Amino acid sequence: MRVLGLETSCDETGVALYDSEKGLLADALFSQIEQHRVYGGVVPELASRDHVKRMIPLIRQVLDEADCAPNEIDAICYTAGPGLVGALLVGASCAQALAFAWGIPAVGVHHMEGHLLAPMLEEQPPAFPFVALLVSGGHTQLVRVDGIGRYQLLGESLDDAAGEAFDKTAKMMGLPYPGGPEIARLAEHGTPGRFVFPRPMTDRPGLDFSFSGLKTFSLNTWQQCQATGDDTEQSRCDVALAFQQAVVDTLTIKCKRALKQTGLKSLVIAGGVSANQALRQSLEKMLGGMNGQVFYARPRFCTDNGAMIAYAGCQRLLAGQRDGPAISVRARWPMEQLPAV
Ligand code: KG4
Ligand code: ZN
Repeated sequence: MRVLGLETSCDETGVALYDSEKGLLADALFSQIEQHRVYGGVVPELASRDHVKRMIPLIRQVLDEADCAPNEIDAICYTAGPGLVGALLVGASCAQALAFAWGIPAVGVHHMEGHLLAPMLEEQPPAFPFVALLVSGGHTQLVRVDGIGRYQLLGESLDDAAGEAFDKTAKMMGLPYPGGPEIARLAEHGTPGRFVFPRPMTDRPGLDFSFSGLKTFSLNTWQQCQATGDDTEQSRCDVALAFQQAVVDTLTIKCKRALKQTGLKSLVIAGGVSANQALRQSLEKMLGGMNGQVFYARPRFCTDNGAMIAYAGCQRLLAGQRDGPAISVRARWPMEQLPAV
C-alpha cells in the first residue's frame, strides 16, 4: 500500500510518501520558524495561511522525487489533531479534497501517535511492548505501548511540557524561538556545577511531571545575574546547562521508574525534545546499566514531519480504518481514545 501523508498541526508543513513494502519513498518539509521568530512564538493565523501556500508545491515535490503518479497512490493520511485548529484544517481539507478527486480513502492521524511511531522508520525499529517518553512542545507523557493503539498513560506533565519549558527559558534569556536547540547549543559551553536547579517531583512516588517551577527557577537565576551585572554570554550558557541538566535528570529518573514499574527494558523517546543529545546520552547510560535499549528517530523525524504521519496512517489503513468524507479535526485528543490495531 502506498500512502501520502500530510502534517500541518503547528508551524511545519510536512509531506511524505510511504510504501508499506518499499518503505519511505520521499519526504519534504517547510518550516515556518523564520516567520514566527519575530513574534517569539507561533502565531496561529500566520501558520494556517502559510500551510495553504506550501501544501500543493510540497506534494508536487514529493511525487516528483519519488517519480510517482497520482494514480499510484492508494490512500491519503493527514494529521487530524491535536494541534492548532486552523492549521489542522488546511491539511484535513487538502487531504479530503485529493482523496475525493482521486477516488481513494483518507484517514486522520493522531499527531502524537505519529511521533510515537517515528522510530519505526529507522533501521532497527523497537518491538512491542515498550515504554514511550513523548516529549514535544505541547506534550510530556510516559506511555506503556503494547501495540498500535494500545496505549496506557503512565504519567504526564501537570503544567508545562518539556519543550515548552525549553522555549520559555530561552525566551526570557533573549534567545530566539524555538528555544530547545538554542539552550542545547549554549549548554555545551556551560560551567558544570555553577548553578544547580531542582529536579521537580522526583522526591515523591509517581510518574507525573511538572516543569513550570523550573522555568521560574531559571528566570530568578537569570534576573539575579542581571541585577549583579553578570548577565554575560557565559552566564547564559551556565543557566542553559543547569536547566537542561535538570530536565534531563528528571526525565531520566521518571523513565527508569516507568521501566521498573512495567518490568520492560525497551524505551522509545519521541517528539522534538528527543533530538536533544544530552537526553539521549543520559537515557542510553541508564538503559545500558539495566541491559535495556533506547530507540529514537533520526533528528529530522523527532520534530514535526510528514513521514511519521504517512507511516502511522499506513498502519491504520492496512488495518482497515477509513474516515468518512467529513473534514473534522481536534485541538485536544487523548491518545488513549484511539482504537487498537
Ligand atoms: O515535536 P515538535 O516538533 O512539535 C510539537 O509537536 O510540539 O517539538 C517542538 C519542541 C520545541 O519546544 C523545541 O524547542 C523542542 O521541541 N526541541 C528541542 C530540541 N529540538 C527541538 N528541545 C531540546 N533540545 C533539542 N535539541
Ligand atoms: Zn509534534
